[in-house]
Amino acid sequence: MGKGILKYYEQSNGTNNNTILDLCCGTGTLLLNFAENSYQGMGIDISADMLAVAKENLDEYRDKVKLVERDVTEFEVTSKYDLFTSTADALNHLPDLNALESCFKCVKDAITNEGLFIFDINTPGGITRGEGMALFENESVFVLRNESFEQLNNKGISIVYGMLVSDLN
Ligand SMILES: C[S@@+](CC[C@H](N)C(=O)[O-])C[C@H]1O[C@@H](n2cnc3c(N)ncnc32)[C@H](O)[C@@H]1O
Repeated sequence: MGKGILKYYEQSNGTNNNTILDLCCGTGTLLLNFAENSYQGMGIDISADMLAVAKENLDEYRDKVKLVERDVTEFEVTSKYDLFTSTADALNHLPDLNALESCFKCVKDAITNEGLFIFDINTPGGITRGEGMALFENESVFVLRNESFEQLNNKGISIVYGMLVSDLN
């Protein structure tokens, strides 16, 4: 996904605006794509465990990418960023619309005038259409995902079971 966003961004903005802030950056895979292409950036995530993996993944670029443990609903930056991203339904992890609004306000204060915010988000319609089981498997992982939507609480529920194939050998 990171490579697609990088390509889209460079086609629409050129390569001069090269600072990125990835919200809910997880293990830093998107930031890695950008760091490999001379971007400077920051990743924000609330989970110390995810950031520990991101730190390993981005070790080669530690001078270019800062990783910060913080809630994306209440962050501030000292200088503005050209590109904001948030992928893999990360913003769906926020508890409610107020939290999403707070996050968007933080982005508004931290983005350059011509900046771009690229994110994906699941909607109730999308979750309802995607309800059911999905299996993903390759040589190293086996993942089973069960999606459902609770009409009463207006909440999507995603249960993910995963196994590293190396554990099975
Ligand atoms: C599905 S993962 C997405 C990771 C990454 N964006 C990717 O594309 O692989 C969701 C991430 O959101 C983070 N997260 C959830 N709520 C958060 C919050 N309020 N502030 C910052 N990070 C949060 C989690 O710790 C997790 O790393």
